[in-house]
Amino acid sequence: MTNSGSWIVPYKERINSALESLLPDDDSILTKAIRYSVLNGGKRLRPLLVYLSSELGNSTSEAQDLVSSAVELIHCYSLIHDDLPSMDDDSLRRGLPTCHKKFGEAIAILAGDALQPMAYSLLTHSNEIEDKLKVNLIALLSEACGQNGMVEGQILDISDHKSLSLEELDYMHNKKTGSLIRTCLEMGGLISYLQENEIDLLKEYGEKIGLAFQIRDDIIDLESPSEVSGKNQGTDVLKQKVTYPKVIGMEASKEKAIELCKEAQEIVTNLSGNPVKLIKLSNFISNRHY
Ligand code: IPE
Ligand code: IPE
Ligand code: MG
Ligand code: MG
Ligand code: MG
Repeated sequence: MTNSGSWIVPYKERINSALESLLPDDDSILTKAIRYSVLNGGKRLRPLLVYLSSELGNSTSEAQDLVSSAVELIHCYSLIHDDLPSMDDDSLRRGLPTCHKKFGEAIAILAGDALQPMAYSLLTHSNEIEDKLKVNLIALLSEACGQNGMVEGQILDISDHKSLSLEELDYMHNKKTGSLIRTCLEMGGLISYLQENEIDLLKEYGEKIGLAFQIRDDIIDLESPSEVSGKNQGTDVLKQKVTYPKVIGMEASKEKAIELCKEAQEIVTNLSGNPVKLIKLSNFISNRHY
């Protein structure tokens, strides 16, 4: 998040170096594809959510780094597969050729396949997270990105529907993007031993910013040139995707993202810890261009 504020830079550096040290490093084509797709920039929103939520309580930096890395690996796998010819068929990601363009489709599929268990395996590596909590984290993450979470959203996204009601669109966006975002906050709350009511507030905040994040993603597809977004512009229209601007119009979509982020801010003012960074982050999300 280059222009979103200097306060984010140390978090980005921290997750980048954690990922760098945790990823395999050998000469195999699979490892090259994995490193290419993970260590290639990205806003690192999901790790940031783990860091910010876990800072509200008492967590160890080992636990924070492992959970942050795990959620980013899941996210990177989802991007590799989302870009495949049989999915969105995209050629540009984070300003570079997509994984399948660079390494071929079979290696891209396998890189995504390898990243998923790698994420769960990282969660088991911790010397500091107790076993019961590890199992809970694995269950939450698999729920968020599995058949009733992100994959359900992706299935809806590629389904051949001419239109969706606003309610159906929200459902799809919440599943494909919101569920992982919300779960990052929940996992951060759990590893720092926050009270249940505090974790509930974080999850509510996650619902709001998760939907706002995907609304802005739909807007970015139409408005941000590829030098800004790192992705090809206008592909949702080409692929006849049902997006927020298509369903309620561009201006209403922008207002909705702002409104959701305002609601998210009100929610986190009820936390007993300091919500300033979560508020700043929602301000970035409400009108992001990349
Ligand atoms: C893109 O996610 C896919 C969505 C779920 C909207 P990001 O916009 O977080 O992508 P990176 O990680 O910054 O590249
Ligand atoms: C992707 O949504 C959601 C994922 C689970 C990866 P999009 O297809 O809109 O994301 P971009 O625009 O390709 O980044
Ligand atoms: Mg997609
Ligand atoms: Mg896509
Ligand atoms: Mg998109």
